[in-house]
Amino acid sequence: LEVAVFIREAWYVAAWASEIDDGPVARTLLGRPVLMFKDASGKARALLDRCTHRALPLSKGEVVDGIVRCAYHGMEYDGSGRCVRIPSQDFIPDNARVPAFPLKERNGLLWIWTGEAESADPSTIPDLIWLSDQAWGVKGTLFTVCCNWRLIVDNLMDLTHLTFVHGRTIGNAATTIGAETQAERVDDTQVRVTRWMMSAAPPPTYVRAGGFTGAVDRWQIIHWMLPSVIRIDVGATDAGTGAREGRRVGGIRMQNINMITPETETTSHYFWAQAHDFSPGNAEITERIFQEIRTTFLEDVGIFEAQQTALEQGASDLRLDLISDLGGVQVRRLIERALKREAQASAPLETVVA
Ligand code: FES
Ligand SMILES: [Fe+2]
Repeated sequence: LEVAVFIREAWYVAAWASEIDDGPVARTLLGRPVLMFKDASGKARALLDRCTHRALPLSKGEVVDGIVRCAYHGMEYDGSGRCVRIPSQDFIPDNARVPAFPLKERNGLLWIWTGEAESADPSTIPDLIWLSDQAWGVKGTLFTVCCNWRLIVDNLMDLTHLTFVHGRTIGNAATTIGAETQAERVDDTQVRVTRWMMSAAPPPTYVRAGGFTGAVDRWQIIHWMLPSVIRIDVGATDAGTGAREGRRVGGIRMQNINMITPETETTSHYFWAQAHDFSPGNAEITERIFQEIRTTFLEDVGIFEAQQTALEQGASDLRLDLISDLGGVQVRRLIERALKREAQASAPLETVVA
């Protein structure tokens, strides 16, 4: 049985909601071309980016008052994908309909479902409150990266890479040596990794953002949700002030929020944001933190693309796991289980001979 490449029965981030304020956005998501735009009532909609007549991408045309007009022979579609006008004839055939995808806005993000539409349950969309809560200053963006989505998940589950990749910002020797790590499966869709770096030197970003002059107690708590939402609760306080026991005052705390949506098998949309709770209303601080993390994540992108090249050159499996991969290995098991389930669900029915 062939294993599926994507977990389709899931909500994925398709865009930041603000992206379609200025006009339609065309984007390939899980291998499908999608056009997102606002319908006549201002609601965000997602259609297959393909005219029913001769398959021209609808994104070659334009959207006027919530109606998409094809650039080839002028057919017009509403937000549900129904054809509402064919300039050259009055009769509109029943099958003049473009497939639509469920699309929901939550926490400033547009979430799409590309699996079976009947199983799309909006209550299962992750509630990333840090993106829309006034108590947090937040800024996010999108990187489209030339690598398979799972390399990004793997990266975020093993933070010992910070020492070697991010020495200019959030990494230093203490991120690897002496860090205490625990990994646990919360349920069939969630894994949590907790790391503590006690009485450790703060890395450059923490010195710049928190003004630390001595050692800190630093934490990284990684929350993974199937298939590819990863929130990392991070921060530090002056060493010995009780952060590990729950007294996280006087230091800095941030939420690094990552949402990875496969574009194709070998490319990914990496949506991410950084939220902080020190002077949340101060746009200058929010921008400075964002830039620190942006620099950092561009370093990761260089790693991802080099790994992808290696995979395409025949490094077909990633067989060696270290202790630091404990969380990542649990994630891999749950992802593989979900992929297998989907492959089975979509497999052609076998003929049963009695
Ligand atoms: S291809 Fe769109 S109207 Fe003909
Ligand atoms: Fe990184």
